[in-house]
Amino acid sequence: MPEKKFCVFATADIGDAAFNRLRERGYQLEIYPTPEPPPKSLILEKVGSGIDGLITTLRDKIDAEVFEAGKGSLKAVAQYAVGFDNINRADANRYKVPFTNTADVLTEATAEFAFFALADLARRLWPAEHLVRENTWGYWHPYLPFLGDEVTGKTISILGTGRIGQAVIKKCIGFDMNILCYEAMGTNEKLIRAVRQQMELRYGSGMQRERTSIKYVTMEEALSQGDFISIHVPLLREGESETPTYHLINEQTLRTMKPTAYLVNTSRGPVIDEKALARALKEKWIAGAALDVYETEPLPPDSPLRDPEIEDRCRLYPHFASAARITRLSVDPNLGMAGRCVQGLIDMLEQNYGGDMTKMPYVVNKEAFR
Ligand code: GLV
Ligand code: GLV
Repeated sequence: MPEKKFCVFATADIGDAAFNRLRERGYQLEIYPTPEPPPKSLILEKVGSGIDGLITTLRDKIDAEVFEAGKGSLKAVAQYAVGFDNINRADANRYKVPFTNTADVLTEATAEFAFFALADLARRLWPAEHLVRENTWGYWHPYLPFLGDEVTGKTISILGTGRIGQAVIKKCIGFDMNILCYEAMGTNEKLIRAVRQQMELRYGSGMQRERTSIKYVTMEEALSQGDFISIHVPLLREGESETPTYHLINEQTLRTMKPTAYLVNTSRGPVIDEKALARALKEKWIAGAALDVYETEPLPPDSPLRDPEIEDRCRLYPHFASAARITRLSVDPNLGMAGRCVQGLIDMLEQNYGGDMTKMPYVVNKEAFR
């Protein structure tokens, strides 16, 4: 049990199970009570009041202003998400405030969602259900009113072969897909070997008819050869990395894709130039897109992605990929984002691992403490 009563402000309700873990340890909690994100001014006020820890979501901009307000008191930020582009890492490092994320526990949920989104798009599940609901089904017919495209046996390009990209690859093996990988941070030969072994086993035992392959390729090859392109990169803006991902998908890269290809994005919205994508869909440079994330969230009412003309080939979801019950709310840090988030906070505030931030498994900005 901690000797000091830690004060924590949570910008969102991450569930009682997780909060009770903190309460049992004597923490004093304040939870922003309503579903919308709190205004920045309120976060500044809470941090300025001397809290020890902050629980954040991807909706909260955490930057120098916040760290300055918490100077001398704010000891830890626990982010409830795997992505942390809302947290200014350089600012956190300058103020020496460690922050954690909730990687791993949402990997499979996000990967399966990406795959299901791809399936929804390619097999036209959404317009198909509308036929039934709107009583416009008509007849069973060989090709009317529309057909989709089969996923099995096709080529998928995975942009980003980190945890989530790899989990999508695992699922694609089961659909007899050829896999092209693009990764700015370098190739993962162990992954390639393991996947090839699986593919050979499946082919050798007659479970799949054709031999399939996996390899790393250039971005250009990934875009021009994939029947499906699935994005799994972090959002890195200009100046944050030597290989920024902001608007990685733009007019030029969209024109590189096949007119029959589908694009799926479950990473971060600003990786795609949405204006260019809306045009690509309207002018049929590509066959379709399924999006879970947007440049502005929620998606503004006047977004060109809402154009009714492209509705049949543009699936839009509400940043929902990790939204599975256990994934979001389990208090077990090996299963749920809530559990991992509070464990990260406990590690940082209670100085677990001998107080060595570089040894804490969920701390992201370890470099600030070396
Ligand atoms: C969700 O988008 C996350 O980063 O966890
Ligand atoms: C479709 O329902 C079929 O029997 O081919």
